[in-house]
Amino acid sequence: MCGIIGYTGPLQARDVVLQGLRQLEYRGYDSAGMALLTDDGDFYLRKKVGQVSALEAVCEPGIPSHCGIGHTRWATHGGVTDANAHPHAVGKVILLHNGIIENYHTISRQFGFEGLATSETDTEVAAQLIDYYYGQTQDPYEAIRKAIHIIDGSYAFCILFTDIPGTIYAIRNVSPLVAATSDQGSFIASDVTALIPYTKRYFAVPEQHILTITEDAIRVETMEGEIIHPDMLEVTWDVEAAQKGGYPHFMLKEIHEQPEVFRKTVTPRLRDGLPNFDAEGIPDSIFEECKSIQVIACGTAMYAGMVGRAIIEMQLRIPVTVSIASEFRYDTPLIDESTLVIVVSQSGETIDTLAALRLAKECGAKVLSIVNVKGSTIARESDYVLYTHAGPEIAVASTKAYMVQLSVFYLIAARMMLVRGKNQEEVRAFISNLTAAADMIENALEQEETLRKQAEKMAFSKDAFYIGRGLDYAFSLEGALKLKEISYIHAEAYAAGELKHGTIALIEPGVPVIALATQDKIFNKTISNIREVKARGAYVILITKQGASVSDEVCDIHLEIPVEDDRFTVFPCAVLWQLLAYYTAYVKGFDMDKPRNLAKSVTVE
Ligand code: AGP
Repeated sequence: MCGIIGYTGPLQARDVVLQGLRQLEYRGYDSAGMALLTDDGDFYLRKKVGQVSALEAVCEPGIPSHCGIGHTRWATHGGVTDANAHPHAVGKVILLHNGIIENYHTISRQFGFEGLATSETDTEVAAQLIDYYYGQTQDPYEAIRKAIHIIDGSYAFCILFTDIPGTIYAIRNVSPLVAATSDQGSFIASDVTALIPYTKRYFAVPEQHILTITEDAIRVETMEGEIIHPDMLEVTWDVEAAQKGGYPHFMLKEIHEQPEVFRKTVTPRLRDGLPNFDAEGIPDSIFEECKSIQVIACGTAMYAGMVGRAIIEMQLRIPVTVSIASEFRYDTPLIDESTLVIVVSQSGETIDTLAALRLAKECGAKVLSIVNVKGSTIARESDYVLYTHAGPEIAVASTKAYMVQLSVFYLIAARMMLVRGKNQEEVRAFISNLTAAADMIENALEQEETLRKQAEKMAFSKDAFYIGRGLDYAFSLEGALKLKEISYIHAEAYAAGELKHGTIALIEPGVPVIALATQDKIFNKTISNIREVKARGAYVILITKQGASVSDEVCDIHLEIPVEDDRFTVFPCAVLWQLLAYYTAYVKGFDMDKPRNLAKSVTVE
């Protein structure tokens, strides 16, 4: 939810921290701040409401410092103000934080910090507590250890002690941190996006370990003082991949990357035209023996799960349930060792999804996760992982990650068909349709101008509805979310047959209805529902398979997708409504990459 960067080494710390914050801004952008230990033994701290550019404007160039930390914030405790921006300085401690301290009020009362705070944040209490123990012990490790034993909640802390030059301390619990040391110094950050301009080799910071970061080394020790050496990981993409590549927004770039990342995710998992997970070491037993499947995720990842549920139930006839992670984690779930749990997360750090994963494992279920970020917490805590290969997804609104999550669900369905004895030729045909979906995605991208024109017609509507039946309903959920989260239009997805049970009361002249009628066996029923909204003045954008017979009065525009098999229409459809959402927000002049109130990875509850 927030972006953290720390650096110590031969380079100018101000510049490295600002560069890192720019790379991490997609994680949260309410305010930004930095603290530097200056070469003359003093420190320098600036923090500002607004994006990183606002901070840069108040950080004089050329500050003599080679050690510093920076933070870009998504507000949780305390409003969006300069005072609440991180870092927080208390005594000799300067600290920044990603996460939520659950018991900060208790700590503040217990230690008499009340009345001394200069902010409304939980983070400042952590700084007060560590400074309190540092005053008692003059030992940074003891101060951190004692404080951590008291603090409850999620955190990624980066800490400077103003009398310990050139050194950064860090510790995490649930919230993510990665670290690396290179010939350009040592780095710590919320994710690898901030590291790749300097190094591609990094390690994921283990929870509850204290890091001591100096120019040429990073020491990792347990709370008992035992030194450990974490496994090194390698970033598989380069800086270019994390830049806009000439597109006006990351979101549009990522929409256009979909054919390539789809192929990158699917092709390596095919052998002789059949699905194969040998490279990931995933045993067929988890697919053969499970009596049911439980999908757990949030937001777009959850909506990919809704499509996954529809296709797996259709092909395998076993029950699949999709749960919202933040609901599941507080439930008493009806799962056990006969349940295959599929956890979906682009970032691999969504805290509700991680908590749900841990509960699922406590219930004895095997967990297979579909994750985009290699080495992320969810990936590391799963029994098995099928990585998507979307590369870095910077835009807050997920597009290419959703597309490849879908592709992995289709691969899972195909693998299950194979291991459960379905006719090999049927599976081969299924896979052949799946691989052809990449071409359908490319074809849908060619309709960009049409979607831009449609966006102009609906950009200033108050409401919008996405309707469909069966698979069409499953993937209209994502269509509505895309429009909502970047154009701020109140969009809802609705089962087409359900509209007349109340919601059709909201249909009035000009209300845009994006209608999906790509499923053969319920095509006519869906057209009837579309006539019902059209009769009440709705502006209907109808999406069907190529060649569908539709009379003119049914819709205002008819978009056709060149897909034969209606099990695979989701792939081009997803592109159409991603473009519709993008251009609707564009017409309204909004920031498609950093929509208001949102952040890329929700690592707080
Ligand atoms: C999607 O456009 C949103 N950014 C959001 O719903 C996102 O999908 C959700 O927060 C889950 O994130 P994750 O996939 O990283 O777990």
